[in-house]
Amino acid sequence: MKTFADISLKPYNTFGIDSKVRRLIVFEPGDDIPPLEGNVLLLGGGSNVVFTKDYDGTVITLSHSSNQAIILSGNLVTAWGGMVMDDLVQWTLDNGLYGLENLSAIPGTVGASAVQNVGAYGAEAKDFIESVEAYDLQEHRMYTFSNADCHFAYRHSLFKEHPGRYLILRVTYRLCNEFLPNLSYKALENLPHSTAQQLRNAITDLRWSKLPRPEEHGSAGSFFKNPLVDEGTYTRIKAQYTDMPDAHKTNDEYKLSAGWLIDRAGWKGKTMGRAGVWPNNALVLYNTGACTGNEVVALAQAIVADVQTKFGITLEPEAIII
Ligand code: EPU
Repeated sequence: MKTFADISLKPYNTFGIDSKVRRLIVFEPGDDIPPLEGNVLLLGGGSNVVFTKDYDGTVITLSHSSNQAIILSGNLVTAWGGMVMDDLVQWTLDNGLYGLENLSAIPGTVGASAVQNVGAYGAEAKDFIESVEAYDLQEHRMYTFSNADCHFAYRHSLFKEHPGRYLILRVTYRLCNEFLPNLSYKALENLPHSTAQQLRNAITDLRWSKLPRPEEHGSAGSFFKNPLVDEGTYTRIKAQYTDMPDAHKTNDEYKLSAGWLIDRAGWKGKTMGRAGVWPNNALVLYNTGACTGNEVVALAQAIVADVQTKFGITLEPEAIII
């Protein structure tokens, strides 16, 4: 375990925002978790957070260094919560285990994949998570949560219901010994998929074509969630905007494309202060250089108000504002 005092969080958030924290603790596998007083913020890869001020408390994170994946039995893989998710995806393919390839190049850690129920290209972490081992910072004990215990939904989990409470130390995924390509997402139709590695590489290229390169511009990936609306709302908007992409229907809900709504409202490529809307993908807000969290939030609020006026839909951020 490493402890730092009054340190900049810039290297710990992918937006590259230069906020400070009073204390930062980085845990390694096997560390005991000491009792923690005051405000506590649990941080994964920092790819889903916007700091608008200095954090007067303790930020906890897990080291990314260790390659801690272990095959438990046949197709169950357990990984250290701090492992970089994309490293785990590659590790599973190298070990003949399949399923995670559609989640290639998602930023963040194994632990965050469970908190956020990360998803892309027709797959979500919840489709593979068998169980989650977390340290309860309130009751000071370990818990093992089954998939059902985790309350997974679109970009949601039990862990989001109790911010700062559960430190996810390990996640177990149930994978497949055979590669059965999942090409259900429309954009994947024509991608090469003779092997899982080929599909992973193609998905990685596709994802990066829509996102800023992290070494050039900070961002948090999709800034907003895709809104879930009822049939009446979907039909109303579709009648008015015939060019709107078809919604993805699950149960009685229709998932609209926030990226399209923001784009259609005219925001693509716009900047406000030092925050901008990515020219290749209106769902992504980015740091044009030395941007503050408040500039990102101001831009996000202007977008939410405008989309509300134009479409009658309230967008919600996927990123967490601190
Ligand atoms: N679109 C536009 N203009 C834009 C952006 C998108 O018209 O500026 C349209 C696209 O043409 C497409 C539709 O909106 O018809 C949906 O776009 P896309 O397939 O790129 O996916 P998304 O719904 O915008 C979600 C996830 C992404 C994930 C992709 C691919 C959320 C919030 N985002 O985006 O996740 O990579 O699907 O599966 O659910 C992330 O969470 O950080 C993330 C990148």
